[in-house]
Amino acid sequence: MSKHIERLRDEHKDFDLNALDESFANDPFKAFQEWFDEACSSKEAEPNAFSLCSANAENNQPSSRIVYLKELRSKEFVFYTNYQSEKSDDINGNPRVSMLFFWPGLQRQIRIQGIVTKISPEESDRYFNSRPRSSQLGAWASDQSRPLKSRETLEQKIADLEKRFPENIDRPEFWGGYGVAPFKFEFWQGRPSRLHDRIVFEKEENLWASHRINP
Ligand SMILES: Cc1cc2nc3c(=O)[nH]c(=O)nc-3n(C[C@H](O)[C@H](O)[C@H](O)COP(=O)(O)O)c2cc1C
Repeated sequence: MSKHIERLRDEHKDFDLNALDESFANDPFKAFQEWFDEACSSKEAEPNAFSLCSANAENNQPSSRIVYLKELRSKEFVFYTNYQSEKSDDINGNPRVSMLFFWPGLQRQIRIQGIVTKISPEESDRYFNSRPRSSQLGAWASDQSRPLKSRETLEQKIADLEKRFPENIDRPEFWGGYGVAPFKFEFWQGRPSRLHDRIVFEKEENLWASHRINP
């Protein structure tokens, strides 16, 4: 076993920075915004990176990966990706996903469950057009999640695309945004002695109800 895992196994970390109570918020989007803003203004390395978990409809196999939150709308969390990737294959068969934000410096995690749908092509165009040329070429070049013969094949593809698009680059149809519409949130605040605070929000007929759960 690695010496580091042994050291970490024996480590006892206590959480004592913050607390969370029922008066926190009655709207989980506002609560998210508040914690997200704190994560951005504190020293979190990648505050908008979250783990997106999808589950394949054929065999229920869950699969997680990090993506970036690019927009927070009134009722939707937006990220961008390849519409033919493995995650998109999962989503096509099963639109239920979960999202996980972890901000260790604040001793906080937020879990979100929701239904994902594609955002409009116009919205994806707007975002794509705002991206640097190198990212636009990258979106065109990557057959995301599919086997790749070699690194050189990918680099050659970029070189070919540079010639194909000497000026403006249109968004490829196979790339764009998804919006996750949550029906459940859990806000987790680390507390001393493993007595963490957990507040859950669930959507019931368009209204959000919240309650505390055990650590
Ligand atoms: C910090 C970080 C941010 C990432 N952001 C994105 C993103 O916004 N969109 C995306 O498609 N992949 C992003 N990725 C790559 C994904 O984790 C993943 O490798 C890719 O989307 C393919 O996933 P899939 O094969 O499960 O579809 C990011 C990875 C990291 C580590």
